[in-house]
Amino acid sequence: MATNTIPALALSGVTSGYDTSEILQDVSLTVRPGTVLALLGRNGAGKTTCIHTVMGMVPAYRGAIQLFGENIVTLPVDSIVRRGVALVPQGRRLFSPLSVRENLTVARTADAAHAGPPWTIAQIVEMFPRLGERIHQRAGTLSGGEQQMLAIGRALMSRPRVLLMDEPTEGLSPQMIAEVSAIVARLREAGLSILLVEQNSKIALSVADDVAVLVSGRVAYTDCATELAGQPVLIERFLGVASAEAPGAGLMSYA
Ligand SMILES: Nc1ncnc2c1ncn2[C@@H]1O[C@H](COP(=O)(O)OP(=O)(O)OP(=O)(O)O)[C@@H](O)[C@H]1O
Ligand SMILES: [Mg+2]
Repeated sequence: MATNTIPALALSGVTSGYDTSEILQDVSLTVRPGTVLALLGRNGAGKTTCIHTVMGMVPAYRGAIQLFGENIVTLPVDSIVRRGVALVPQGRRLFSPLSVRENLTVARTADAAHAGPPWTIAQIVEMFPRLGERIHQRAGTLSGGEQQMLAIGRALMSRPRVLLMDEPTEGLSPQMIAEVSAIVARLREAGLSILLVEQNSKIALSVADDVAVLVSGRVAYTDCATELAGQPVLIERFLGVASAEAPGAGLMSYA
């Protein structure tokens, strides 16, 4: 890809946090259009804080965040969503008492002049047939994997150009992890630009184009994903044995 392509998402020197505590320190990251950037890091490294800073949910004290060249760092959350950034939150955060259809419908955006292509419920169901079978079922009664699919489907309903996914495989069975990973690849093929936060480095590196590792709120490493995938010692140093023991995680296979 040409190096002068405008990034889908670019963080430059971003420092952010909560009240007086700065969590992200001088973070610079780039998601190239139509690619997946895996953002890896141990518990508490600042991955969710980073995603929430992009969404405008956590204030950036310094630095710039550009969406296809437009600085969005001072915009409120709803303006950022309208511009085509969607979040698949850690822990899914569905409306449990509402049905699958209702969860999708409430996320549909009416005003999307600047955002990405619209998704219909029919298209979501085509991508996630399990949701079609359970369209009237309450979200709270779905399995973990089905809930994750609904969380992704709900994010698509807001017409994103850039998708922020916060640990979508967390707590899922190996089969569901494989399904979610295939969905990430399919969304990338559909043209979405994706920031994929994961602790499951094997899955993340298998679907990502590029990778960045956060250590204590700072970017400690960036490269193409295949480069880091070939360096088990580095992966272990950054992410530790604990990540290898996470459900479905594959660090051991690098050893
Ligand atoms: N609302 C908050 N108020 C104050 N500190 C917070 C808040 N949310 C997170 N933090 C702190 O910010 C740091 C980074 O947390 P964050 O949730 O971004 O990490 P993470 O990399 O997403 O971790 P995990 O892998 O466990 O999800 C932690 O020290 C955490 O305690
Ligand atoms: Mg997190």
